[in-house]
Amino acid sequence: MSDDHDHHDGNDDHELRVSKIRDGTVIDHVRGGQALNVLAILGIDGTQGEEVSVGMNVPSDRFARKDIVKVEGRELSQDEVDVLSLIAPDATINIVRDYDVVEKHRVERPDVVEGVLSCPNAGCITTGDEPVTSRFTVLEDGVRCSYCERIVREEIASLIDT
Ligand code: CTP
Ligand code: ZN
Repeated sequence: MSDDHDHHDGNDDHELRVSKIRDGTVIDHVRGGQALNVLAILGIDGTQGEEVSVGMNVPSDRFARKDIVKVEGRELSQDEVDVLSLIAPDATINIVRDYDVVEKHRVERPDVVEGVLSCPNAGCITTGDEPVTSRFTVLEDGVRCSYCERIVREEIASLIDT
């Protein structure tokens, strides 16, 4: 079984930064600086006793620096993975069971996300009293509300419905 062995790490015994998990999900190759947004998307703030390890700006061979988030006892839904893809387009989702990686897949950017983000436009029909499920088209560099056409490029994580 391999360790956190991105090649700059060198000797695993000296360099393993975040311990292995037993059962859960490792979100690896997250863009440096995005780990807290990953936690926000997953609704994790630590107050529920969630067992989570985070590495930020650790050396990586694929990018200069990466973040990594390890969540014990949880496997992610497709909706969560879809939103993660918006802020961590190169992330790898590793499902771990009994210490082994049993599934590994790259996130894929969906064409649309429904009901996960809320529109920042106060005049948008999706933010009014009538219940209308939000819907955003995923663009190359952001998302666009399907109802009011508002485009958000930065701070997509701040649109997450919690
Ligand atoms: N991991 C973990 N706990 C385990 C098993 C794996 O935290 N019980 C972590 C590893 O530390 C690594 C990630 O899950 O960060 C993926 O593990 P693995 O597939 O063994 O590593 P790599 O081959 O380096 O993955 P990749 O090729 O995706 O970089
Ligand atoms: Zn809108």
